[in-house]
Amino acid sequence: MSSPSALRDRFGRAHTYLRVSVTDRCNFRCVYCLPAEGMDWMRRDDLLSYEEITRLVSVFASLGIRRVRLTGGEPLIRRDLERLVEGIGGIEGIDDIAMTTNAHRLEGCADRLAEAGLTRLNVSIDSIDPDQFAEITRGGTLDRVLRGMDAAIDAGIGPIKLNMVVLKGVNEDQIIPMVEHFGARPETFVLRFIEYMPFEARWHKSVKGETIRDLLGERYGIEPDGAWQGDGPAVNHRLGFGLRVGFINPLSERFCSTCNRLRLSADGFLRTCLSDDGTPSLAEGMRDGATDEDIAAAIREMVLGKREGHDALLDGGKAFEGVMTRIGG
Ligand code: 5AD
Ligand code: SF4
Repeated sequence: MSSPSALRDRFGRAHTYLRVSVTDRCNFRCVYCLPAEGMDWMRRDDLLSYEEITRLVSVFASLGIRRVRLTGGEPLIRRDLERLVEGIGGIEGIDDIAMTTNAHRLEGCADRLAEAGLTRLNVSIDSIDPDQFAEITRGGTLDRVLRGMDAAIDAGIGPIKLNMVVLKGVNEDQIIPMVEHFGARPETFVLRFIEYMPFEARWHKSVKGETIRDLLGERYGIEPDGAWQGDGPAVNHRLGFGLRVGFINPLSERFCSTCNRLRLSADGFLRTCLSDDGTPSLAEGMRDGATDEDIAAAIREMVLGKREGHDALLDGGKAFEGVMTRIGG
């Protein structure tokens, strides 16, 4: 097994974390993520099989990837996802498998996922008001999401990190209700506020992380909490009554210089940067009979070509390309 420095890029960043998108499809159509209708979905034949994903992840692990997160679209759209979790769990060097989900389909499979080795869960939830939730997701049922999370907690997956993308004029009014709701179980939930990253086709205004931190500070008291700082971009704090909150501020506190992550799209493209929708395919070579060594060499070269970062700003700048569901969050 090689050291994590095997995937060092031109800017000195070592890559130890891989996000794997298993499908670009989603059972929701969140207003900030997907258009109301008309999407060019990936062809089913183009999606990587679980065997192909497992093989690619093992090559990544040989290059120093240690943590894997399954994303989408919505990962629970794929059938028997626990098979993939189990496959990845068996790879030498991988010591953490997480998933980001909207939890709408979680209730029925949380047990199986936990048994298969899923260690951590992030749930995207932008409102605790059932009507607003349905509006933002264009049809999601809040209650099902809450039941899905409870099932995961019962299955021993926890604490759950909640991702709330805060949009100006859309769900800012939910910041306090979310804190109040999930704050009732401060050991079970961590609430993270995410600045919306602008995509070409969908401009929304973000709420600056600092504004939210000030708001919470005034109301509850807030302290930085270094004790549970992960190796992701979230800046973590604790509210006066104990709830842990995090701020993911890609725009106001651009964290590209410490980026440790790579992304594998559902059709096998390596996305070295969220802002770069044009990097080459790993699936093509693999399907043409490339050896693990060939694939490793291709990955190394792509990582060397990784961009320095994105150029989006709170009040404009350059929007991201493509759609989030193709790139995998
Ligand atoms: N900006 C910020 N976060 C986003 N997400 C989806 N689209 C965007 C965006 N444009 C969030 C989802 C999910 C996570 C993977 O990314 O809500 O929680
Ligand atoms: Fe689906 Fe997540 Fe996009 Fe919402 S944000 S449409 S849940 S992938």
